Amino acid sequence: MKKITIANIPGDGIGKEVVPAATEVLNTIAAIHGGLKFEFTEFPWSCEYYLEHNQMMPDDGMERLQDFDGIFLGAVGNIKLVPDHVSLWGLLIKIRREFEQVINIRPAKVMKGVKSPLANAKDFDLIIVRENSEGEYSEIGGKIYRGEDELAIQNAVFSRKGTERAMQHAFHLASKRKKRVTSATKSNGITYSMPFWDSVFEDVSKGHPEISTDSQHIDALSAFFVTHPERFDVIVASNLFGDILSDLGAGIMGSIGIAPSANINVNGKYPSMFEPVHGSAPDIVGKGIANPIGQIWTAKMMLDHFGEEELGNTLLDVIESVTGDGFLTADLGGKHSTKEVTDEIINELKKIDKKG
Ligand code: NAD
Ligand code: IPM
Ligand code: MN
Repeated sequence: MKKITIANIPGDGIGKEVVPAATEVLNTIAAIHGGLKFEFTEFPWSCEYYLEHNQMMPDDGMERLQDFDGIFLGAVGNIKLVPDHVSLWGLLIKIRREFEQVINIRPAKVMKGVKSPLANAKDFDLIIVRENSEGEYSEIGGKIYRGEDELAIQNAVFSRKGTERAMQHAFHLASKRKKRVTSATKSNGITYSMPFWDSVFEDVSKGHPEISTDSQHIDALSAFFVTHPERFDVIVASNLFGDILSDLGAGIMGSIGIAPSANINVNGKYPSMFEPVHGSAPDIVGKGIANPIGQIWTAKMMLDHFGEEELGNTLLDVIESVTGDGFLTADLGGKHSTKEVTDEIINELKKIDKKG
């Protein structure tokens, strides 16, 4: 029996609704497989936890997570209780950084039964590789002066190592796909980091002559995401550009509620973390209408990560058969609840089990 230990952190808002849904799906998948078992341990770390303990996780929180095979996170953030920069840097970004989850993989594609808001959407299927450890998300800077001259400075950090690592990962993924990598740049306006980014991209490209490459400024690239998303295969982007592009990717799919992501620790020292692209969605929390597909597709990425690609592909096929049958939550124009969509996915999985 292959046992995979997972630390579940539902977090805040709809994280508490979609993580249990996706966990149930994973348990169903494991039962179908027969030789696979997930062992989940839940951690209540969240903004409510902060109110009681004055921190997002206990002092030994990272040690407690370290020995798990993976971390399955919902979403973090409740500005009514804790400022976002405190809650996010105390939990989500802390884990990404300290567990060296330097690559963030965020796919977007046309899904069966899900209407893209693009009137003429061709069949796009792309992956954003987001540099996940540095870039514009730095702690270097400060707020200086008060009064009329008040100003804030935020420095960005681009190391050769971090930049190369993200790019190499993009080339690696592209080599198994349509063999195309697009670099998201802004070297026409940003004078140090982006010309550096471009030169690293040129160097890394030379090592992969079989992959075709191009470089697009992030502003034009954003427009192309809307006009011609089918032209892209793998896009490599800095931390902030990748963040924004991945919500745009979610948007052109039809909803931010279906987009998955994986924060990968590439050196194998620490667990990787799997979480949907969306946040805690305070506007719909408690209504039972959160789309569980972002979290369930994220579970598919976790299956892939643990070498269970066949199960992962089966899960994505089932998700699409369910969306194809019209089981959609309100964000996709449907009337179905979180539970109805989840139950339908579980029912379809069980049918495959009976057939197979
Ligand atoms: P959000 O993703 O939470 O919500 C944006 C919009 O998308 C809302 O209208 C929401 O209802 C909708 N939405 C999101 N997920 C959905 C789902 N599964 N089903 C249906 N609709 C869904 O982004 P926001 O409003 O900018 O942020 C809310 C909070 O979440 C903030 O505190 C923010 O910092 C945090 N956040 C956390 C993460 C994370 O933990 N990974 C990511 C993004 C935002
Ligand atoms: C994401 C989120 C986070 C990020 C926020 C909540 C800090 O938007 O995972 O995409 O910017 O990385
Ligand atoms: Mn984001």
